[in-house]
Formats: sequence, C-alpha cells, structure tokens
Amino acid sequence: MPSISVFGAQWGDEGKGKIIDLLSRDVDFVVRYQGGANAGHTVIVGGEKYVLHLIPSGILHKGRVNVIGNGLAVDPLALMEEIQGLCERGVQVTGENLRLSRGAHVIFQHHRRADQLAERWLGEGRIGTTGRGMGPCYADKAARTGLRIGDLLEADRCRTRLQAALAEKNALFEKVHGEEALDLDTQLDIYMGLGDQLRPFVGDTGAEVRRAYDEGKSVLFEGAQGVMLDIDHGTYPFVTSSNTGTGGVPAGAAFPAQNIDRAIGIAKAYCTRVGEGPFPSEDHGAEGQAIREAGCEYGATTGRPRRCGWFDAVAVRYALELNGAESLVMTNLDVLSGFPELRAAVAYDCDGERLEDFPAFTPLERFSPIFESHPGWTEDITGVREFADLPPAAQSYVTWIEEIVGRPISMLSVGPSREQIIPRGL
Ligand code: IMP
Repeated sequence: MPSISVFGAQWGDEGKGKIIDLLSRDVDFVVRYQGGANAGHTVIVGGEKYVLHLIPSGILHKGRVNVIGNGLAVDPLALMEEIQGLCERGVQVTGENLRLSRGAHVIFQHHRRADQLAERWLGEGRIGTTGRGMGPCYADKAARTGLRIGDLLEADRCRTRLQAALAEKNALFEKVHGEEALDLDTQLDIYMGLGDQLRPFVGDTGAEVRRAYDEGKSVLFEGAQGVMLDIDHGTYPFVTSSNTGTGGVPAGAAFPAQNIDRAIGIAKAYCTRVGEGPFPSEDHGAEGQAIREAGCEYGATTGRPRRCGWFDAVAVRYALELNGAESLVMTNLDVLSGFPELRAAVAYDCDGERLEDFPAFTPLERFSPIFESHPGWTEDITGVREFADLPPAAQSYVTWIEEIVGRPISMLSVGPSREQIIPRGL
C-alpha cells in the first residue's frame, strides 16, 4: 500500500477514525491535509476511547509518523491540549512521531470569535459551524492576511502580521458587533508561547513525506469531514472551508497527485449530517430518531445531535466517482439491526423528472429523494466477523448498496472497536 487516500463519502462522521486507525497498522506515515479541530475522529483501543481532533489517528500506533500538513487550519491551543491529553494517557507524542507543517495556517482567538459572531449575524442563514474558527481562518488565508505556523516562530514577523490582522478584526468587533477589542501584546504572548511549545514538531512536512514515499515508505492521507461538505463540491454554502476529498491532498499535503496510488471512500450504512443545510434522505420521523439512538449519533466535537436518515446512493456514488475511489468501506451496519424495512435513496426527483446523477452546483433543496426499500434483519451482528455469517438480509443489503453505488464494498464495520470488522477481500 504505497499511498492511499481515505475520505468521507457523506457529510462527515462516517467512522473514518476507526478505519484509518485500522489501516494505519500497515503504513509508515499518516497525513492530515485539510480542516482542523472541527473534526472529531473517535478511536476505541482496548476499551479506551480516544477522540482526536487535529492529530492523525496513526498516533495510537507506535512507530508511525503523523503529519499535520500545510493545508490545515491549526488552533495551536487545541493542538497543545490534544498533545498533553494524549501524553497524560501514556501515548507518546514527540517531534519524531508528530510533524507539523510550517505552512499550516494559525487559528487565533479572533478567528474563533469571528466564527461565532458570523453565525449569530447570519440568523436563519447560519451554517451551524463547529465554532472552531475554520471559516474565518481560511478566509484570511485566501485574503493573504493569515499567519502560518512558521510565523509564530519569528517574533518580528509575527508582531507585524498579527498587528495588521488585529487592527481590522478589532474594528469589526468593536464597531459592528459591539464587542471588546483583543489586545495585541496579550495575543502575541499567548500565541508565540504556543509557537515555542510546538517548535520541536515543526518542519517542511511536504518534503518529509515526499522523500519518505520516494524511499518506498507507505503513506495514508486521512480526510476529515466528508465530500458533501467540500468547499467546492459539497452542498455550498452549507459546507466546511476546505477540500475534503482526494483532490485536497496535493495542495494540502504538498504531495504530487500522480503519486496517490489508491483512494477509498467511507460511508455509514445510513446517513447523518450535523449543522444546517440540505440532506435529501433525512428522516424527520420516528425512524430517524431510532437511528440516532441506536447509532449514538451525537457529535464527537460539539456533542450536537446529528440529523439522521437513510443511505443516499446518489450522493455516495458522486463522492466515489469524483474522488476516484476504487471501493467503499461501509461502517455502522450493526446500527440497522432491528429495522423491519430499510430504505436508500437511489435517485432524486425534481419537478417529476428522475435524476440518477448528483446535481452538482445546484441547490439541493429542490430535489426530493426517490427511495427503494430492502428487507431488514433482527439479529445482533456486532459479533460477526465473516460476511457469510451475516443474516441473509444483511448480506443482500450490502450487495444491493454495492450495485447502486457502482463500487465494491471492501470492508464492513459492525461496532466501534478495532476487532469489529468484516473484511471482504475485494
Ligand atoms: P465548520 O467546519 O466548523 O466551519 O462547519 C461547517 C459545517 O461543516 C457545519 O455544518 C459543521 O457541522 C460541519 N462539520 C465540520 N466538521 C465536521 C465534522 O468533522 N463532521 C461532521 N460535520 C462537520
């Protein structure tokens, strides 16, 4: 497995943490290339639960190099807390096994504040962000007013750039929002202090990963969020602020596109979404509620209840095709045990017209799902480890989904722990 991109094929929360943790056993480098602490990747090891926000899931395996690439928006405070939290639990985090790009953008307190204020300001049009400052930080990156991790390590440069940024932000806080200004010296103390603490981890991670790949090392690119939240290809404007799929890898990890050898999408056996925005296969009734309870569908980062619904084959098909995925990993199949009838959206309807292809760049609100049904099963499948031992209805649900998404399902997850996996050997 020289290099592989693993991404979420829905609206995030597909259970990527567990799958990436599993695949990390066989790789040398695990690389994040976009997003930031808005992600929450849950991994359960030996009954212990770890929720990782910024640090790649490979950190839980000894001997892996974990990389936070230049494409991330990094909150240094959140990163230091995560490092310390892991160290307190006996997970070693050093400059050897965690690398942080000099080019990653810094999320400051003013970004988090601006994120929360923008949501209040937008009222009905709010996106339902995680409030972690992602949008404002990426906006500054595009406006060329942002600071990068490397800037925190150079006092003069840091002061000049932060002073310019704060002048504008403070005017906005005070004059538009009636909030207090942030003090430059206090902010410099906090963030340069954090920069100092992070110094041992900082480097040109792109060069490190490219060199490792050229020497025959294997690399896994860990996507955060999901394709339907991609800034370009998702349900804009209800998206996050980065490229969440394989397309984000070359820019966000400084890695040549032609060296990405494989891509795999991850999707739940049903579908969830957190925050606002269209979700065609959402179930607003008792079944949606039942999926939420059975799947413990509450956000790992914000604790918000997730909106729940049925598998959307139109969206997943699009995500897999767009990102060149050879196969799909299906997670949370066990959650569907006990539902007498399962449904999946196989096409969309728009004013009586049936659409098989995902209507990219078109507001999804206009489309309603066309569902097909499949019989359910009642057995608890959390202990099953072989496909042939699944109830016949569960087997046929999986093969039906393969047919309607047009890709093989290479692995099934039937519970949160590392062992609860059914490999399919495809
Ligand atoms: P932001 O990334 O915090 O700006 O939030 C933008 C949208 O993406 C909101 O709808 C969030 O709920 C959603 N989002 C961000 N990160 C995640 C994630 O890791 N899982 C699921 N949804 C996410």
